Amino acid sequence: MNSTGTPRHFLNIDDFDYAELRGMLNAATSLKTRLKDGDRPKLLEDKVLAMVFERQSTRTRVSFDVGMRQLGGQTIMLSGNDMQLSREETLTDTGRVMSRYVDAIMIRILSHADLVELSEGSSVPVINGLTRRAHPCQVMADLLTFEEHRGKIKGAKVAWVGDSNNVLHSWVNAAELFECELTIAVPDEYHPEKDLMLDIEKAGKWVKLIEDPREAVEKADLVLTDTWVSMGDTDAAERRRVLKPYQVNTSLMSLANKDALFMHCLPAHRGDEVTDEVIDGPQSVVFDEAENRLHAQKAILCWAFGVDVN
Ligand code: CP
Ligand code: NVA
Repeated sequence: MNSTGTPRHFLNIDDFDYAELRGMLNAATSLKTRLKDGDRPKLLEDKVLAMVFERQSTRTRVSFDVGMRQLGGQTIMLSGNDMQLSREETLTDTGRVMSRYVDAIMIRILSHADLVELSEGSSVPVINGLTRRAHPCQVMADLLTFEEHRGKIKGAKVAWVGDSNNVLHSWVNAAELFECELTIAVPDEYHPEKDLMLDIEKAGKWVKLIEDPREAVEKADLVLTDTWVSMGDTDAAERRRVLKPYQVNTSLMSLANKDALFMHCLPAHRGDEVTDEVIDGPQSVVFDEAENRLHAQKAILCWAFGVDVN
């Protein structure tokens, strides 16, 4: 709960100011260092996190589960299909009921409006584990990863190449807050939807939208991509055809700065959006990025419970 008595939800990057997110990243670094030193502070002892998955997950599922255990808490894993949600119980009622049992809820659900509705009914913190609109936990892990390897992201040149999706949307919000220069190269056919376009415009000078992947990657410090077919997309074959020129391969990476990093939230579709040479190459930090989901989310959980990490 915050001082106004409302629970601390973590739904979108742009629900926060820079200082709040920086505080969470600092907490993530501190928790990570302590874990590597064998110290697992039981900051969330006896707290129970319900994890609801309407869609598949490997990283989000395992990292939240392990993170809660390391912090002394417990989890309940629920599949949306097994809940009355799938028989049209409202999201508001679901949030109201679950709040009577558990201390926090993490949910992966395609409809962002459903996530918001659940949070409005919930008197305990709700964390966005991915919607079609946003993937804020992922981008917190991405920021942590970049800064571990290269120092502060402020002023860095970041390129996004490929589809315009949920991960990109959270990156657009982060670019504005963290003041890095994000250039997005997407084909006209998969131009950002209205909601994302509004945030791109709001980000002003920090975000540039173009079509040419080569121009986006030129002199970049970080190259990002993601699957061409996100959960909920139906036109897989057409997407692969249109997005083919947006593959991140060695030729494209050679245009970036020599020490540019490559990131991908995973799961990757090798041979589509990225080649083996790049994802397994020396510039790739995708497995550090995946690990950092754990540390970033532990910090988010502590923030949601109002627990001071330091
Ligand atoms: N990056 C990510 O969210 O992975 P999962 O879909 O495996 O959770
Ligand atoms: N954009 C992808 C991310 C998966 C973690 C999707 O929504 O499927």
